[in-house]
Amino acid sequence: MLLTIVLSHELWRRICPLSFVSQLFGALKWQRLQTGPKGKPRIVILDPSSWLGRHHIQLQWTLLLTGLSLRLLVANSSALILALLCLSALLGALVVGWAYGGKSWCQYFCPLGPVQTVITGPRGALGTPAHLSGVTRTTQSMCRTVSAEGKDVSVCVACTTPCIDIDSERTYWLNLTGKRGLNWAWTSYPGIVLAFYLLILATSAGTGESAWSYLHNSSFTYDSRLQELVLQPMLLIGSLPVPRLIAIPAGLSLGAWVSVQVFGWVTRFIERRAGTDDTDHSRRLAVHRTRLLATLVALNLFFFFKSNVVPGAGVAGERSLQFLVAALTSVWLFRSWHRDESLYRRESTSDSLRRQLMKLPGLDQALEGRQLGDLSPLEVFTLAKALPVMSLQRARNVYEGVMKDLLRTGRISSASSLLQLDELRRNLNLEEQDHHAVVRQLTQDDRDLLTTDGLELLRNNLRQEAAREAILQLMNLAGLEVLQPQELSEGQRAQLDQVRVNSGLDEGEWRSVLSEFGPYGSLEQDRLLRRWRQLRHERGLFLLLDKEAASWPLVAPLARAMADRTRSLEQQLDERLMAAELSMPAEPTHPEGTLDEALDLLWQDPDPDTAGWVLLVDRGRLREGGVLLGRQPREGLASSPFLDAVQRGEQTEDMDELPILARSELFADLSPAGLILVAARGEVRCWGPGETVFRRGDPCDGLGVVLDGHAVVHTGGGETALLGSGKLFGEMAVISNSPRSADLQASEQGLQAFWLRLDAYHMLLQESREFSNGLMKQLVERIPTASSGRSPQ
Ligand code: CMP
Repeated sequence: MLLTIVLSHELWRRICPLSFVSQLFGALKWQRLQTGPKGKPRIVILDPSSWLGRHHIQLQWTLLLTGLSLRLLVANSSALILALLCLSALLGALVVGWAYGGKSWCQYFCPLGPVQTVITGPRGALGTPAHLSGVTRTTQSMCRTVSAEGKDVSVCVACTTPCIDIDSERTYWLNLTGKRGLNWAWTSYPGIVLAFYLLILATSAGTGESAWSYLHNSSFTYDSRLQELVLQPMLLIGSLPVPRLIAIPAGLSLGAWVSVQVFGWVTRFIERRAGTDDTDHSRRLAVHRTRLLATLVALNLFFFFKSNVVPGAGVAGERSLQFLVAALTSVWLFRSWHRDESLYRRESTSDSLRRQLMKLPGLDQALEGRQLGDLSPLEVFTLAKALPVMSLQRARNVYEGVMKDLLRTGRISSASSLLQLDELRRNLNLEEQDHHAVVRQLTQDDRDLLTTDGLELLRNNLRQEAAREAILQLMNLAGLEVLQPQELSEGQRAQLDQVRVNSGLDEGEWRSVLSEFGPYGSLEQDRLLRRWRQLRHERGLFLLLDKEAASWPLVAPLARAMADRTRSLEQQLDERLMAAELSMPAEPTHPEGTLDEALDLLWQDPDPDTAGWVLLVDRGRLREGGVLLGRQPREGLASSPFLDAVQRGEQTEDMDELPILARSELFADLSPAGLILVAARGEVRCWGPGETVFRRGDPCDGLGVVLDGHAVVHTGGGETALLGSGKLFGEMAVISNSPRSADLQASEQGLQAFWLRLDAYHMLLQESREFSNGLMKQLVERIPTASSGRSPQ
């Protein structure tokens, strides 16, 4: 179990049974509530400035020493006492979980809380560096729950800040000095571990077993003499006999005290050796390194004595485990030895900077194929310096963005920001004057950021984040894109109220968070803006495809598919843009983007036939000598027999017909799906030069579209009409359900036509609106021609 803790504090916090029990009342929503300033109930949070808030480490350490003493004195030999001890811990966790929100049990009461702090150090050997985790905060063991959609969401109530569960390293640096009781607890820990095992060894006297095997074979866990021995003397120092009842707590305390003295000396030694002029820095460095050493000693001592962690591992197994722990803790020590607060700060600043740079244009070129997320902190700073698009105003905006982020998350204070952001300023080519200008700006826009205490800001930020996630989850479940409380059902309103209670936000803060999700809220505005841009872009792409289709008809159905997309986007946006007082983008006059872009977009279209058509176009380009990169998989999107067939590289008869159909006027309005349907329903037929297609008075059996050559119509009175490519013939009999009205034969060059049999025609009329429209269009086009007495061409 300890290995788990060493490797990952996060994991342990997720599986600890006490932590679980402490969350029970919270999960059942039976927690103690308190009336907030506006009379609304909210969850109680332990005040960090209260007596308990200030002295919790002493309390936890006392509980730890008491627990260890009880174990050595009586608990090991009595199942009853052991059970009582466990039960009282469970009860404690339960009661605290009812009385206070969040992880108050773990942070303020659990005796193992500070132990975890000690053995985690700045961060566990394999712990996640939270400050480098980018925008997601699903790191480490912070209070999270799994939503109904299976998503990890925050339920943080900011029960303590800084919090080891959110960013252990940040907590580490903030608590390096000035955290009451922590230094004592930390440096006493190795001594407590040593004393605990020495006292077990000493207890072996009188068992007939050697001290080592008494410990090693876990005989002490079953020693039935313990209760009788409570008042028996035990040799503590020299030959002074003291009853165990006193000797055991005294021994543990002595171990703790000696350890504190030894590590105190180590601190002073390191401090002297550091010898820099900056005494505060030397002091902090010495405390940091002493803590690392204390942790290393404590862990190795633990595994030295408790080497039989894995039952039946044998001597070789035990030695390997000890070696592994020594190696792991040494690597951990090596990695942490040269870390300091400024390094941590630079890393977390670079993380904020990364997020600001993401918004800049021209970033892709500057990255030359690398991902922003892959850059080291130093590289991010260098990138900021090297970005060609970095005008003074942009640099100031980036600086302001980073500063706001760091202030909001309490990572810098406004007073120290000038000094702490020095490196960033240099990299952005900014001067102190620019810093002042940004602060002036913030004073007007966001005064609270500058005046509120950093930890308070962080606390608010955490609560707001958690509330946002919970609201978003509620909206997703209710299928809402915009939140309008008056439109919620009773049940949903009750849930929303529960989110408010849990968040602990005051009325003003809650309203401002809620408004982010309303029609004028930032969420909706961002979403609308994104769609607005998308619509404008897709309209430009449509023009591009339309232009391309003039010289390459195979692209025409894709232009139609793009037009369909823009139409449905327009319909979706219309009302919402009006509600948010925004207007539709103006129709573009020029094509925009590239053919590749348009094809990529349509490849991911939900209509699988459109995607299949993209592959047809790809094939066409390949045939003309173009180079194609493979297409990404269409994740989460449906497929169709046509798409499957093209993907398998098949070339069916229907597929041969498609490029021909795409050229025909009759099918000019058909999207890929419509054309594929038509191709499946009909066939290509050929007639030799002068061959008769049908005669006047013949029964009607279908209609055709000229693909190649001409159809010659012999109307009454010796007149002829010539029907060229794309023209329809034989439709009159089909529509009026009568015999053929004229003779029709192939021209001298012969005739190739796409032929639809009567039943296929009727089916298509029902299945495809686009087909019916296309048919009507051609018929209407004939009316003026017929009335003016001219023959159609
Ligand atoms: P249908 O009557 O089925 O068979 C003969 C076809 O010739 C007819 O449909 C039309 O498609 C075509 N046709 C008949 N009259 C004319 C005309 N005046 N101009 C062009 N095409 C015609």
